[in-house]
Amino acid sequence: MLRTSFAQLLPAQRNAALRVASASVLRESRPGRAFMSTTPPPLPKSPIQEKPVASSSQLTTVDAVSTVPMVRAGDVRGDWVLFHPVYTPEEMKAVEILHKEAKTIPEKLAYGFVRLARYGFDVVSGYKHKEIPPGKDMTVAELRKEGYILDERGWLNRILFLETIAGVPGMVAATLRHLTSLRLMRRDSGWIHTCLEEAENERMHLMTFMTLRDSSIWFRALILGAQGVFYNLFFMAYVVSPRTCHRFVAYLEEEAILTYTRCIEDLEAGRIPEWSDRPVPEIAIDYWRLPADAKMLDVIYAVRSDETTHRFVNHSFANLDPKTDVNPFALREPDMYTKGKQIAFDRTEAENYVRESHTIMKQKTEEMKV
Ligand SMILES: [Fe+2]
Ligand SMILES: [Fe+2]
Repeated sequence: MLRTSFAQLLPAQRNAALRVASASVLRESRPGRAFMSTTPPPLPKSPIQEKPVASSSQLTTVDAVSTVPMVRAGDVRGDWVLFHPVYTPEEMKAVEILHKEAKTIPEKLAYGFVRLARYGFDVVSGYKHKEIPPGKDMTVAELRKEGYILDERGWLNRILFLETIAGVPGMVAATLRHLTSLRLMRRDSGWIHTCLEEAENERMHLMTFMTLRDSSIWFRALILGAQGVFYNLFFMAYVVSPRTCHRFVAYLEEEAILTYTRCIEDLEAGRIPEWSDRPVPEIAIDYWRLPADAKMLDVIYAVRSDETTHRFVNHSFANLDPKTDVNPFALREPDMYTKGKQIAFDRTEAENYVRESHTIMKQKTEEMKV
């Protein structure tokens, strides 16, 4: 699996990455969207300055997609986000639906809350997972009318709401660990970084899907209420038991993988025709390094892979002691052939993985000296 970590690159790769980044920044940008430019703007002809028009201002971007100048569709515009996995097409297909059996009381509690939340959300959003009877020849319109599948609006409602919630836990965990590190004047052992990375990753899911539809004031009010309740509850729960909270998030991710797998099945069967040839949001191409002619199917595969990363990382975190253990994923992460087929690292596997990372780093350091 590739990561966009600059520190992990070999010297030659670093130089190449720097060249690409510099070229990307220095390349001439499209008029009206520039944030940085190699050529100075023309001087005004009149001493009286014209009032800048918001849509063409260099400070107010037109579509708030990025602060980095647009170059060509499909070009990578530099690392404007935290490190995050970029998957090969084969990796994206390696994801399996897995479930960790809840054995202890905290695990049963965490899983119970997730099932309850899912049930509540299904009722509120009118979603029922009904298997299409085999051999039944129905059109997309008929399947939608009978409640077997969601329409485009239904999928977006569901995804948008879930992603607004999914971005909360990583930020809460990072905030609390950050405050602990400040308060106790001790190192964090690499957890903050991964938690922040997860929070941003979930927000990128939201930023991608929000470009596909406008949300009503009622939908926004629902999100506001849900965020207010969930943020505070999760914050308090994380103070009491970080391990149970990571287990809860991991169970939530199991559900997310299930949802996106059903979405992929519908897309591949042509049951969401509105997305078949829909252009992929620019932010998605940039974030996941997708080809310029990527389809919505590629985006959903990438999102599902991210959720699989969260499943693996959070179940693994829940197997560790958050007070004393090092984050095994601070330096590198397993590829999707591991994360997609194994639910988590137990403590011994995590320890071996850290040992392996140290060996790799020592080898790279030796290679750089030569
Ligand atoms: Fe997500
Ligand atoms: Fe997730």
